[in-house]
Amino acid sequence: VTQYLADWRPYPYEIAETRLEFSLTPNATRVRSQIEFRRVAEGDLVLDGAGLRTVSLAIDGKPLDAGLIREAEEKLVIPAAELPESFTFEAEVEIDPEANTALEGLYLSGGMFCTQCEAEGFRHITWYPDRPDVMAPFRVTIHSDMPVLLSNGNPVSVEPGKAVWHDPWPKPAYLFALVAGELHAISDSFTTLSGRKVGLNVWVRPGDEDRAGYAMESLIRSMKWDEEAYGREYDLDVFNIVAVDDFNIGAMENKGLNIFNSKLVLATAETATDGDYERIEGVIGHEYFHNWTGNRITCRDWFQLCLKEGLTVFRDQQFTSDMRSAAVKRIHDVQTLRARQFREDAGPLSHPPRPDHYQEINNFYTATVYEKGAEVIGMLKRLVGDEGYRAALDLYFDRHDGQACTIEDWIKVFEDATGRDLAQFKRWYTDAGTPRLSLSEEWTDGRLTLDFRQHVAPTPGQQDKPARVIPIAIGLIGPNGDEVLPTTVLEMTQEMQSFSFDGLGARPVVSLLRGFSAPVTVAREMTADEQALLLAHDTDPYARWQAGHDLALDALIARSRGETAGMELIRAIGGLLDDAETDLAFTALCLALPGEEEIATTIAASGTTPDPEAIHAARRGLMDDIATEHEPALARLYDAMAPQGPYQPDAEGSARRSLRLACLAYLSRLDGAARADALFAEAGNMTERQGALEQLIAHGRADEALAAFEAEFRGNRLVMDKWFMVQPLRSAPDAAVAKAGELAARPDFDWKNPNRFRALIAGLTANHAGFHAADGSGYGFVADWLMKLDPVNPQTTARMCSAFETISRYDAGRRAKARAALERIAAMPGLSRNTSEMVTRILAGA
Ligand code: ARG
Ligand code: ZN
Repeated sequence: VTQYLADWRPYPYEIAETRLEFSLTPNATRVRSQIEFRRVAEGDLVLDGAGLRTVSLAIDGKPLDAGLIREAEEKLVIPAAELPESFTFEAEVEIDPEANTALEGLYLSGGMFCTQCEAEGFRHITWYPDRPDVMAPFRVTIHSDMPVLLSNGNPVSVEPGKAVWHDPWPKPAYLFALVAGELHAISDSFTTLSGRKVGLNVWVRPGDEDRAGYAMESLIRSMKWDEEAYGREYDLDVFNIVAVDDFNIGAMENKGLNIFNSKLVLATAETATDGDYERIEGVIGHEYFHNWTGNRITCRDWFQLCLKEGLTVFRDQQFTSDMRSAAVKRIHDVQTLRARQFREDAGPLSHPPRPDHYQEINNFYTATVYEKGAEVIGMLKRLVGDEGYRAALDLYFDRHDGQACTIEDWIKVFEDATGRDLAQFKRWYTDAGTPRLSLSEEWTDGRLTLDFRQHVAPTPGQQDKPARVIPIAIGLIGPNGDEVLPTTVLEMTQEMQSFSFDGLGARPVVSLLRGFSAPVTVAREMTADEQALLLAHDTDPYARWQAGHDLALDALIARSRGETAGMELIRAIGGLLDDAETDLAFTALCLALPGEEEIATTIAASGTTPDPEAIHAARRGLMDDIATEHEPALARLYDAMAPQGPYQPDAEGSARRSLRLACLAYLSRLDGAARADALFAEAGNMTERQGALEQLIAHGRADEALAAFEAEFRGNRLVMDKWFMVQPLRSAPDAAVAKAGELAARPDFDWKNPNRFRALIAGLTANHAGFHAADGSGYGFVADWLMKLDPVNPQTTARMCSAFETISRYDAGRRAKARAALERIAAMPGLSRNTSEMVTRILAGA
């Protein structure tokens, strides 16, 4: 059944308090609940519950007829006529955490009890109004012989076998959490701005304590940053983080008790890469920032998900920019947005940041809701300015604390705080699709006219889309490299609009979309020389990087069609290598050529059919030419970037390593991965080791290294996930599917663990030419595994269906094979609602 935004109605009851009592056993956990309801409007009492064995139900102590349960609808409906104005609803249910392989609700991970309730997991725990606009303070009692018993809020009493927790802040059920297990904490404290001392704990399995330090440091930095940047203080006596191995997602912001996928907590130099460290810091921040943007102010309904997610991603991006390098962070974010969100927006799964219908909400935790949701806020900030943004946010926290809100509420605080009319801007939230911004230029007598046009292609269910507000940040760079116009924001509101600049001496080059000021694609004619000029002289780091990236993309596309191209790029790289030391991170970013997926996306956007093998060959060929031309400089830089002193997971250290590995990728093409072999043997950190291993795999000489890696890390699940991931990812395209099959047959391919499943399957789907093998073997392999996982874990299965979202762009042969694979999934008896929705949407567009 499809849920519609237009059907939302307020819940007719309020809750004064929710009391829960758990008696934990692996397969027969008892949950007793007492909920204090008060009627506030006409309507029956409707509660959600799924897969519960109901032992008893009562209103004010009087037993309720179990016939009120509508099993098929997963609802319990008590007629209003049978209810006084205020009453206590009581239930006792039995659930089976051990059998819960879907990892939604209460389940077991490595012998420890834990929960995941967002979005609709609480209904697997007990009868409840499982919707985000019903908020209540919770009192939770846990009976268990596990040594550590945790829930939300503050501890009331903790004794062996029993713990009581109280969370005074009203919250919806999706923020409920419970953890019980044999856990050890690393502990610290934080004193808030107003002097509240907060106890901090990061709980891990015994033996992992020495890997949790970076998570704790990140938490403390997050708490401090939110006070400084947003004036937001923490509001409980304790803040607990727990790391679990079996988790469908990255992490969850449960009030006072964040639960994390262990890969986003545990890190040492020997086991985690620079990328892992950066993600840990970013996600710890993200979940912590949800305490205000998500928890204190939550969503009225799940259509409003981007209200909390877009804003919290925006905040975690700001945090990372402040902790590390703002320029590098912006470029990384643009890369992710293009790779994940533009791809989503260009295909059958395209939807607006605020969708207006869905079948399964778990399928809408997407790049569009999260990353595009954050970009929309970035545009808003640019339009109203930093002070306007701060005023609007202050008003938001002030006006809506304790409420469940909508995108309309959010827009209104900006209108009220700044006096701006944002009616047109709101289309960014309601309309799907990535606008294409075309620019043509006219130059006469010192006057430059920029003619812009915006267009959004039709997306599922949305044909014509009116013009949006697009903030276009530009600068002008003179022919000798001087900036003749500093950053200026043009506000485009019409479908076609022109802007002129007078009094210019010589014709400048437009540095367009500085800072990536809007999530749009750009269509403009540019010569390779103009791109090289911007790459050498642009003052905006994003635009400068983009110029080099476009230069490389154009060369790769031309080469994939069999043309000769890339001389300007090769020359420009020479210039970059000459002064690499002035900005290590930037040089590394420019050396990394666009990936095969991005090349395919760009080719498809121009209306041509991408050829995965040709793209793969073009990219290798261009790397060979760059390596041959610049071998001495690359070799010098590779040596110069050798580690100095102990490993530090900070911006400087990771810049050195990323530059070193970028050089290694080129040099390996000349030395047959000899340097990679040496680096693998001697590197003291996982960043360099994994980088070296990837080169060895790509050059087909990794057997010994893989065996050594396995021998060393056999006992470490997270590190072995990397081992499972890099092999299908870096294998030659014609060997990737066979490699994945070989790994899948191993006993340690523990496919019910989402991290392990994703490592192998997503490793393969990220191997562009391997997954899109012309014989369809990649599609068939992935479909087989999705069919195997679906009955066990629908959520993770459904998410991974997005591997197929691009199939309509390929040739008829590939399309037919991919369709056949999807149709097999669609025909599977008992297919989950999650996967069924995804496959249906993809097939509709293929
Ligand atoms: N709110 C969590 C976060 O962004 C993610 C929850 C995802 N839940 C889901 N069912 N997909 O940190
Ligand atoms: Zn979030």
